[in-house]
Amino acid sequence: MLGFIARRLFWGRKSFCTQRCFSQLAQKKVSLQEDGVVIPKMPPFDYSPPAYTGPTADEILAKRKNYLSPSILHFYKTPLNLVDGKMQYLFDENGRRYLDGFGGIATVSCGHCHPEVVEAIVNQTKRLQHSTVLYLNHVIADFAEALASKLPGNLKVVFFTNSGTEANELAMLIAKLYTGNHDIISVRNSYHGNAAGTMGATAQSIWKFNVIQSGIHHAVNPDPYRGIFGSDGEKYAKDVQEIIDFGTSGSVAAFISEAIQGVGGIVEMAPGYLPAVYESIRKAGGLCIADEVQAGFGRTGNHFWGFEDQGVVPDIVTMAKGIGNGIPLGAVVTTPEIAEALTRRSYFNTFGGNPVCTAAGLAVLRVIEKAKLQENAFVVGSYLKERLTALQDKYELIGDVRGRGFMLGVELVTDRQLKKPAKAEILHVMDQMKEMGVLIGKGGFYGNVFRITPPLCFTKEDADFLVSAMDLSMSKM
Ligand SMILES: Cc1ncc(COP(=O)(O)O)c(C=O)c1O
Repeated sequence: MLGFIARRLFWGRKSFCTQRCFSQLAQKKVSLQEDGVVIPKMPPFDYSPPAYTGPTADEILAKRKNYLSPSILHFYKTPLNLVDGKMQYLFDENGRRYLDGFGGIATVSCGHCHPEVVEAIVNQTKRLQHSTVLYLNHVIADFAEALASKLPGNLKVVFFTNSGTEANELAMLIAKLYTGNHDIISVRNSYHGNAAGTMGATAQSIWKFNVIQSGIHHAVNPDPYRGIFGSDGEKYAKDVQEIIDFGTSGSVAAFISEAIQGVGGIVEMAPGYLPAVYESIRKAGGLCIADEVQAGFGRTGNHFWGFEDQGVVPDIVTMAKGIGNGIPLGAVVTTPEIAEALTRRSYFNTFGGNPVCTAAGLAVLRVIEKAKLQENAFVVGSYLKERLTALQDKYELIGDVRGRGFMLGVELVTDRQLKKPAKAEILHVMDQMKEMGVLIGKGGFYGNVFRITPPLCFTKEDADFLVSAMDLSMSKM
């Protein structure tokens, strides 16, 4: 009852519409005009998941509370129990369909349960699930060859891992071994993982525990929206040179950065930043590591890799998430010369490059190419960004719309001048969008940025649906 009254107060009298009403409108595909706002229509989709007979959301939540780490979080006031997925859609325990605008944190590249990826996984699982690299198997070699063909320059040697954290740990280790130096420079507001070294490279206090994280320097973030130098990448790059000059011996092991910060709230490096920084780092004897865990695999639309937008060629590229469409898989790609550094001792990873994961990775690459998913990310992503930018003209709450392709951010502020983070408002909008059938992510240092990173098969109609749902939610604020 209290919830009912609160919802009624929140939505106001005139435009009152219960959450159930929104769902019904969305499911019945009814489109109404109300105060100039289109009530969203879920695009049709010809798939019904099998009936779900498992435990309820409440039962799962109770088990999670008892048996899983208290550190794990969930989105939404009423957490969602997702039981099926098909392409850009997800289904809850009642068979209700949701548009997935988050892609399991920029991970579902081809689409949920893409038939060709599933087929590759199933076929390989039936044949040989695990052997380790101590024996030969063609799948890991075929995938390494295919992956290397997607990278520029002499980036031709692949190490497989199970996650992005592992990939970045390994990349930083290789850089230290190869250069004989220790200092690593990363960018403030970045996220690179949560193990010993990567937690150090990560530069947001919320992701850093109070444990020793040595040998890492965090450069000023070249953030065009909040940064002190606006979009002048070269000015921010001077900070990296100053860190080298004043914070190290003058020699460094590596610089690591995302091309677009994902967890940090979809922050694109200001133009000109990476070329200038790469020059400084190489002069100081260091290697340049591009963390493509979120931006890689065509997600940014205009290029296959995020770093390509700034015209640089890194020495080491790390990847995970989209590489496997949801299968645990990561990789480090570097040059043959740099890769040699790891032969000084034994390096081994039990699951890294296992046949099932690499079969999935190979299928992912084929699907991205065959279905022209990078092009789709460019075309539909640009359209979605335009529509979101139009929404910014309508709502003061939207301080910034940014990103490329299907890596888009919408930053909410309560005051555009002061850029005061709209922390409570974003939770309301996100919850209401979920009730209308649209799931999107959120992040940023202040937790006030929508992260829109859908599967790359997202359509223009899906984009319209997402924007209408955001529009309607914001119109009720
Ligand atoms: C840019 C970036 N690098 C590394 C990681 C760590 O990847 P994982 O969670 O697979 O360890 C993440 C995870 O979100 C990421 O966004």
